[in-house]
Amino acid sequence: MSRLVIVSNRVAPVSQKRSGAEGGLAVAVFAALKERGGVWFGWSGKVVSGEPGDCELFESGNVTYATVALTQQDYEEYYSGFANRTLWPLFHFRLDLTDFSRRNLVAYQRVNVFFSQQLLGLLHKDDLIWVHDYHLIPMADLLREAGCRQRMGFFLHIPWPSMEVLLALPNHREIVRALSAYDLVGFQTERDVRRFLDYIIMEVGGRVGRNGTVHAFDRSFRVAALPVGIDADNVSDFAQEAKSSRQTARLKRSLVGRDLMIGVDRLDYSKGLVSRLEAYELLLAKYPAHRGHVTLLQIAPPSRSDVPEYLEIRRELESAAGRINGAYAEFDWSPIRYLNKGFSRQALAGFLRLARVGVVTPLRDGMNLVAKEFVAAQDPEDPGVLVLSRFAGAAQQLEDALIVNPYDVESVAEAMQTALTMDLEERRERWQRMMEGLERDNVHAWRERFMEALTAPMRKR
Ligand code: F6P
Repeated sequence: MSRLVIVSNRVAPVSQKRSGAEGGLAVAVFAALKERGGVWFGWSGKVVSGEPGDCELFESGNVTYATVALTQQDYEEYYSGFANRTLWPLFHFRLDLTDFSRRNLVAYQRVNVFFSQQLLGLLHKDDLIWVHDYHLIPMADLLREAGCRQRMGFFLHIPWPSMEVLLALPNHREIVRALSAYDLVGFQTERDVRRFLDYIIMEVGGRVGRNGTVHAFDRSFRVAALPVGIDADNVSDFAQEAKSSRQTARLKRSLVGRDLMIGVDRLDYSKGLVSRLEAYELLLAKYPAHRGHVTLLQIAPPSRSDVPEYLEIRRELESAAGRINGAYAEFDWSPIRYLNKGFSRQALAGFLRLARVGVVTPLRDGMNLVAKEFVAAQDPEDPGVLVLSRFAGAAQQLEDALIVNPYDVESVAEAMQTALTMDLEERRERWQRMMEGLERDNVHAWRERFMEALTAPMRKR
């Protein structure tokens, strides 16, 4: 069996304590890699003042972590800059927040060259290379230039934008051309694939074969929708065990019988947190019976705090949470508990299980694994209800959630009301159907499907 080499900007277990702020990539890649073993290469999470030095190796179980540091300039221009102030907002359809500078683009190329040079020294001839996410799109192209002939796959964890949005990126063609150097490009949903193919056909004049093979830029490569799953059984076990954990018991005691609504999101403008709080505010205004009887626990660990747009969204949220609590709180109840910190996955699983309603209402999201984890964490006998944005990739699979349009705040408030009052039979039926899908399309199936597609013989025409 070929060795699997994973490449991603974030290498979670080394670069940060697991806290719930990792994002879907780290959770999914870790679950996929710990089963098969292999190498995980990426940024160490360290920022150094001088030269970054060479790659550091670290073994844990069947995984070798290979990490490199970034210089302060690269951190600012590549990570905070081109990755998170250009590609991230643009790929999330936020042209209003997209900032483009040639300096940051140069840094993006520079860091990708540095990463590819460091990776080259680690590679074996028959490795399978699997690159993740928007930070490292040029990786395959650079490795091919250096003579690598290994199979290389790419998976995009975030949405692929529609063509008109992508065209606003000055180097859009280069980005898509770089993707054509992979053998396989995987997206979260069929909709992402369709948007990608629109660009290939209309902008590049490429051709799509019946088997999903794309012919463009004088290259042939395959594209596929391969939605990321979770380790559903594992989350379910965690949640069951967490029932008796200290933190879950404390949360339960503090609720004194009130219904819990929960949101768990990295503090990011794509997550629709302000509109979510507004919908909750509307729920309390329109259905006064909930006042004093429902608590919204919004866990929002800060992320990318050096990026100005993240400071702004933090201020907006603080102001919304303060306004709602100010308007409705009583001396013995506050409607919102807003927390800027993360929790271990075990603690989160326990919190999710306690909740009557899970609210996952991003304005745009590649997949959103919290939606899936909320379902997997529920008690089968008395499951809670998921309110889910139609703009999360997860909505393509979790059709039995209450699907909402997060831009329509009134309809989200109505869905919250439906969720809080749904009878047990309907809750069980919806949950059962969603859980079956999560168990079938779990993270292991995701890895296997990706590997199968990556190693399948390629038809050239
Ligand atoms: O899951 C999407 C993603 O952008 C990952 O690429 C990333 O590692 C994660 O969210 C968290 O973001 P960051 O690495 O910037 O903290």
